[in-house]
Amino acid sequence: MSRTPTSRTLRSQDWFGGNDLNAFIHRSWMKNQGIPDRMFDGRPVIGICNTYSELTPCNAHFRDLAEQVRLGVIEAGGFPVEFPVMSLGETIIRPTTMLYRNLVSMDVEESIRANPIDGVVLLCGCDKTTPALVMGAASCDLPTIVVSGGPMLNGRHQGKTVGSGTSVFEMSEAVRAGCMSECEFRAAESAMSRSPGHCNTMGTASTMASIVETLGLTLPGNAAIPAVDSRRRVLARDSGVRIVEMVVENLTMSSVVDRNSFENAIKVNTAIGGSTNAVVHLLAIAGRLEIPLELSDFGEQSRDVPLLVNLMPSGTYLMEDFFYAGGLPAVIAELGDILHLDAATVTGMTLGENNSGETIWDDDVIRSTAAPLLEQAGIAVLTGNLAPNGAVIKPSAASPELLSHVGRAVVFHGMDDFSARVDSPDLDIEADDVIVLTGAGPKGFPGMPEVGNLPLPRRLLEQGVRDMVRISDARMSGTAFGTVVLHVAPEAGAGGPLGAVRDGDLIELDVARGVLRVLVDDDELARRLEALPPRVQKSTSGYQRLFVDHVMQADRGVDFDFLVGRRGTEVHGDNH
Ligand code: FES
Repeated sequence: MSRTPTSRTLRSQDWFGGNDLNAFIHRSWMKNQGIPDRMFDGRPVIGICNTYSELTPCNAHFRDLAEQVRLGVIEAGGFPVEFPVMSLGETIIRPTTMLYRNLVSMDVEESIRANPIDGVVLLCGCDKTTPALVMGAASCDLPTIVVSGGPMLNGRHQGKTVGSGTSVFEMSEAVRAGCMSECEFRAAESAMSRSPGHCNTMGTASTMASIVETLGLTLPGNAAIPAVDSRRRVLARDSGVRIVEMVVENLTMSSVVDRNSFENAIKVNTAIGGSTNAVVHLLAIAGRLEIPLELSDFGEQSRDVPLLVNLMPSGTYLMEDFFYAGGLPAVIAELGDILHLDAATVTGMTLGENNSGETIWDDDVIRSTAAPLLEQAGIAVLTGNLAPNGAVIKPSAASPELLSHVGRAVVFHGMDDFSARVDSPDLDIEADDVIVLTGAGPKGFPGMPEVGNLPLPRRLLEQGVRDMVRISDARMSGTAFGTVVLHVAPEAGAGGPLGAVRDGDLIELDVARGVLRVLVDDDELARRLEALPPRVQKSTSGYQRLFVDHVMQADRGVDFDFLVGRRGTEVHGDNH
């Protein structure tokens, strides 16, 4: 094993270099792991930031992936050091993983800064683990490379494709409508999740894996290789090799990612039919990197970008099919000049160079720009007196006939209220009404849970209704579908007008014009807001107090106000 030469002294040498008392202490205790003296000779020390946890099933194979990265780092002459951070299992954590995304980002940032690390590999998979790790690393701004865990294999049950999340929502509504037995519902569980990996639909995990690939933070092909495919392990190993080279080249995250990279990410998110959650995560990552990005950019940058990828929830197929069809490299090559192909990447080459010549192998899974699934598919940004700072909707997952709609509001204040009344025979609600949910935003819940795709009233389901306009300050699972308006800002819990809507008010949704309005005049709306009882802060202590006091609204990425920006890796108040 030879040392990779560098022309500069690395920050790890502040710990491991020299022969004073502190250097003795730093090296000696590390040597209790059997690390030989030569590893402290100035070679790049690579942190492997691992979100492995048995409580995060999507990341439960990460010990193996970390080992592959470790082999790559050693192969390239680096010194790998694996460290754990808090992990977030989307399906397990209560009340919602979004409550903890920023906490994990703090864990990552402080772990990197506080330790002798020169470059870092982020092992990400389940929904929030990718943005949380990238946000934390962005604030440190060392050479950084992301390795995603990869999707599960396709689910199949009784001859049908079963996609993570999307099929669960469909089957759950079928059970409530009396069209599927509970026994059959349960039998589908193991057929859906049959291998290691994250959700196999174009949910938030697949979306964020595609986005970090587009941002240039991964090796090409990262997003779609199934978790169990041997090429995923090769990618991890190659990433270990590459991060050592990046440290030598001093290729930091901010020298890879710029405004054009974010514009590319928005366009690719449109082409893949990606999750609405990408909006808050991209805004937060951009904030950490001090790159200007606004909610309105999502509308502008996605305009005229077609939907090419035919994956659930917007389409038919799953991530395994996407991989065989060419994966993200084929999408990037197909989009061509729609993207900034000169954007930098961790390979040291441009996005265009990385993906040039990539081919679509199945043109039903990945459509050409000449024959897309939809001509215009971007996440639409809505504004109006109901959402002065904006709201979003994913038209590709909505019912086209509801994208221009005026309906009577049926209002629920919080999920407890919704659960208590939605199936009540006394509930006055019809198919063309608009379901409004308040109190599910960042502060109001707190944590902005994925409840925006509210289940429909059982009575309407039994009549065959399968979609209605739903509006809230919540988020929605990337695997979900429906005519669902999300991220209303400011939220009701921060005094937003959503909290002043009353049963029977008429609400206008016009996605083509970007309008979301309650048809009540401004004076009346202001009077109602003033008359609302003072908001009660639900949580008064602990981490939730920090969250409620400092979380910003959805149009600012739901980050904490004090975490925005790059803080670098200088250790302040160091007594060594
Ligand atoms: Fe982990 Fe969907 S639950 S990615």
